[in-house]
Amino acid sequence: MKFHINYFNVEQLKKECLVVGVFENKKLSIAAKYLDEISKGCINKYILSGELEGKVNQFLLLYNVPHIFSDRVLLIGCGKESDFNEDIYRKILLKTMYVLNSTSATEAVLFINNLFIDNKNMYWKIRVALEVIEKFSYQFNYFKSIYKIKRSTLHNIFFNIYQKSDIFFGEMAIQHGVIINQGIKETKDLANLPPNICTPNYLKLKVKNLEQNSDSKLSIEIVDEKLLNMLGMNAYLAVSKGSKNKPYMSLIKYNGLNNNMFQSIILIGKGVTFDSGGLSIKSSKCMDEMKYDMSGAAVVYGIMYIVIKLKLPLNIIGILASCENMPGGGAFRPGDIIKTMSGATVEVLDTDAEGRLILCDILTYVERFQPSIVIDIATLTGACVTALGNSISGLFSNCNLLVKDIIKASKQTGDTVWQLPIFDKYKDTLHSNFADLANISNTKSAGAITAACFLSHFVKKYYWAHIDIAGTSWVSGKNKGSTGRPILLLIQFLLNKSGLNFYS
Ligand code: BES
Ligand code: MN
Ligand code: ZN
Repeated sequence: MKFHINYFNVEQLKKECLVVGVFENKKLSIAAKYLDEISKGCINKYILSGELEGKVNQFLLLYNVPHIFSDRVLLIGCGKESDFNEDIYRKILLKTMYVLNSTSATEAVLFINNLFIDNKNMYWKIRVALEVIEKFSYQFNYFKSIYKIKRSTLHNIFFNIYQKSDIFFGEMAIQHGVIINQGIKETKDLANLPPNICTPNYLKLKVKNLEQNSDSKLSIEIVDEKLLNMLGMNAYLAVSKGSKNKPYMSLIKYNGLNNNMFQSIILIGKGVTFDSGGLSIKSSKCMDEMKYDMSGAAVVYGIMYIVIKLKLPLNIIGILASCENMPGGGAFRPGDIIKTMSGATVEVLDTDAEGRLILCDILTYVERFQPSIVIDIATLTGACVTALGNSISGLFSNCNLLVKDIIKASKQTGDTVWQLPIFDKYKDTLHSNFADLANISNTKSAGAITAACFLSHFVKKYYWAHIDIAGTSWVSGKNKGSTGRPILLLIQFLLNKSGLNFYS
């Protein structure tokens, strides 16, 4: 799909479809009014006859409208004008895509990006449009026979704008949105791939491929089993012992500021390519979905892909912490005591609490980069899904300013997070009789928090946030698949840090 900004007369527009909004109570949007005037009352004729009430998502597709050179006019219901908001804007965009897709139009000019939404500028409206279009268009076809693949004829979308000053915002939104959509596709593809293909080795190869057509700002480093061993990352290594697939920690170092890598922002993604639970094996129900336990790593990959293409002026290190959690003769066991890289010993009471074991060593490892900020992204706990559901990611941090920045990006993008506390009292529940701490809490409750407490034990030297995406990175059921979250949140966080915030 190609996107364009259109700034010229509606009269002269000769395209395959024009899309304009109509409100309830026979109220036309500015664009609809304009078309009505040109067509000498044709639009109003349909409205007044009751053909279209203007309720949200109602629509009327008109052909051969008098005096309009374009082939079709799509009137889309926007509800009551006073109720129009972000959610309705997203809804009507999606509906528009469905309707356009049911026609043979190869192009469309949207006017609905001009509808007024409080506090939202043209950059926001066009970014959101691209986001909705990505969601609508995404397909994961690699394993389907050709006859099962749906093809769309729509290839060009024009956003019409009325104000010259909006050209810049529109162009920026398209420039950012197109690249972000590519990154989201990369992430979704990785998370949707089956675990027999998307192995730690596969993720490593993906990372290595990034190096091919990029400049000196980028360097890739792969830490294999041998090196992990030399580094003393025994907790990370323990998790992968039951699997024939070897672990790989892949580092994508992006040096957008052209100075040394100190004071970088570090993003760590949990990359368990399949979480069977290990010897504390999971039930077979929905076990297939545990292929998405590498969503954090997939998000970090997508982010780095975007950062490189946007050439952000930041130093960022993306780390894909990958391995597979399997039962097997060599697997780690409940009862094992492991010496982590930090020196602290951990008693494994549940091999299914593996994410924190991988992350804890990496939280120690990254100290060598003297980072200013470290953010880990992980499908860490089912408890987080219980607490916050599938729409909100869990946020934990040791720094209020960082929380503020993340929540700001969350509000800008609608990629929602909610902060949960790291409460000292709950740290005590990780008590072990035999080691410095246990890998699970001795209470059943507050599992998302106690997992974050475990991680916080290993964070000493930098500002840190942990984002639990167990509920948000994936949709179950009929439309099963990766959501790409929280890419939008994190990219906005980085855009803001780069001074490239065009939302306000
Ligand atoms: N990968 C899972 C968490 C998860 C659960 C992600 C559901 C997505 C959906 C994680 O490794 C895990 O198994 N966590 C355990 C922790 C428990 C053993 C303390 C959990 O949440 O049950
Ligand atoms: Mn697990
Ligand atoms: Zn897991």
